[in-house]
Amino acid sequence: MVGTWRGPGEGHYPTIADFGYVEELIFSHVGKPFLAMNQRTRHPQSDAPMHAEVGYLRPQPSRAIELVLAQPTGVVEIHAGSVEEKSDGVIVDLRTERVEGTRTAKPITEVRRRLEVTGDLLKVDMWMAAMGEPLTHHLSAELTRN
Ligand code: HEM
Repeated sequence: MVGTWRGPGEGHYPTIADFGYVEELIFSHVGKPFLAMNQRTRHPQSDAPMHAEVGYLRPQPSRAIELVLAQPTGVVEIHAGSVEEKSDGVIVDLRTERVEGTRTAKPITEVRRRLEVTGDLLKVDMWMAAMGEPLTHHLSAELTRN
């Protein structure tokens, strides 16, 4: 997963209008047993900054994995999940054990994230239970490693 990944994404949710975005997602490591994750997105036409997030993926024994993630929208996600190795990549499936917001953050009660690496292609999907809606797809992106 280590590297800089870029590509287009699409978002939707029952409470908002559909939108597109361009994502840059960087996984890096310093030799300790975690990957740093740094994501930024931009508007596909105006190039204006959109969502961003930073965190750490923490692999655990028996193909388990944890993720801690913070967002400028006041949201913090704490995930537990699994890693499935494929011949040419890996699938990381994560669900929140806790998701917390600052007092002004929008209400989010659950997040699911799926990352599938196949060679130099990374497919990202994200679902959330937010704004009173059940767990519903919010984002999908197809990124390539640069
Ligand atoms: C690629 C990353 C993301 C992009 C480009 C993105 C983009 C957007 C956009 C454009 C909106 C509509 C804003 C508006 O109409 O005012 C929105 C709403 C929202 N997003 Fe995202 N988002 C991203 C990631 C996330 C994540 C990670 C979460 C939560 C963990 C999240 C939670 C929400 C919520 C709660 C809303 C409000 C829906 C509402 O007001 O009804 N988003 N997002």
